[in-house]
Amino acid sequence: MDPISDPISLDKALSSFTDLWSPRIVTAVNDYDVRVAKVEGEHVWHVHDHTDEFFLVLEGELHIALREKKGETDGERTVVLPKGSVFTVPRGTEHKPYAPSTAAILVFEPTGTLSVGDRHDDVPDHVDVTPGHMLRP
Ligand code: NI
Repeated sequence: MDPISDPISLDKALSSFTDLWSPRIVTAVNDYDVRVAKVEGEHVWHVHDHTDEFFLVLEGELHIALREKKGETDGERTVVLPKGSVFTVPRGTEHKPYAPSTAAILVFEPTGTLSVGDRHDDVPDHVDVTPGHMLRP
């Protein structure tokens, strides 16, 4: 990606598009992207086999359903992230983000990481399968 040499207002970045579940790359840190997305409703169950995935909630509230492997038993739980919360989904953990109403999130993960992971359920039409789109100023 081209280096971004000017400061980016996240508010302006978020107001420059309307698509849901369609992350925009706002900057990069070494070989990681910083992406922002508008979200509402359900994403899709998926897993990133090789990387953790960091979430920061900028606006609204994000829920993340997790299927965690705990020894012999597999547990499912949902974490609730109010505005200002951070959470990291560990690599190899199936997860499905959900937003009860319009929310905005920041995601930090290796460049090229696909929005639906390495394995996923059937992707609904409202979920964009992408490694992130460049922000158009
Ligand atoms: Ni993910």
